[in-house]
Amino acid sequence: MKLTYLGHAAALLESAKETFILDPFLTGNPKASIKADQVKATYVLITHGHGDHVGDAVSISKRTGAPIITTFELGNWLAAQGAKTVPMNHGGWAKFPFGRVKFTFAIHSSSTTEDGGRPLYLGDPAGVVLETEGKTIYHAGDTALFSDMRLIAEDTPLDLALLPIGDYYTMGPKDASRAVEFLQPKNVVPIHYGTFPVIDSDPQEFAKLAQGKGAKVHVLRPGGTLDF
Ligand code: NI
Ligand code: MN
Repeated sequence: MKLTYLGHAAALLESAKETFILDPFLTGNPKASIKADQVKATYVLITHGHGDHVGDAVSISKRTGAPIITTFELGNWLAAQGAKTVPMNHGGWAKFPFGRVKFTFAIHSSSTTEDGGRPLYLGDPAGVVLETEGKTIYHAGDTALFSDMRLIAEDTPLDLALLPIGDYYTMGPKDASRAVEFLQPKNVVPIHYGTFPVIDSDPQEFAKLAQGKGAKVHVLRPGGTLDF
């Protein structure tokens, strides 16, 4: 399984058969390592409705035919824009030809202001667990720290966790290092930092704080890859 960090919270996951793109914010992302029209994906996954996560999902879905797997209200909103969607909700597994997907709790919000500047609420934010070809990947989305992260790892041990460390909107390095204790993943990649000045936190500080907690921390540059 190969992960490519695309910058901000965007990631590409390539298995033998499929290519998943998660939170594909590329257009307007100063750290994006690829352009939206270069993306080859067979599935799109989105954690919540903020623009820095939905990003280019609709155009990628329309161009490639990849369905968007996401939360219920967000999925319906994207379906109304012409995307093929699988609108799920928190806590239940959905089976797919590649494996299965579950949306988890996240402490955050989920809205857009694209409809005339007034916030349009798009259901509850989520993290997502993806199981495919014998590997389990957790993308935490945007979230504060919560101790029930333990339940995610109890349900299915994690090979890889993508955790936000940018502070301000999400966990910072210290809370994210506590998340590593709760989640016990084999590998961790910090995300959602350095894209904009307010989230300029230090991934090396996170790596240091997470040391000795049982996970391998991989600080990837946008475009950087991890085989796991
Ligand atoms: Ni957000
Ligand atoms: Mn965000």
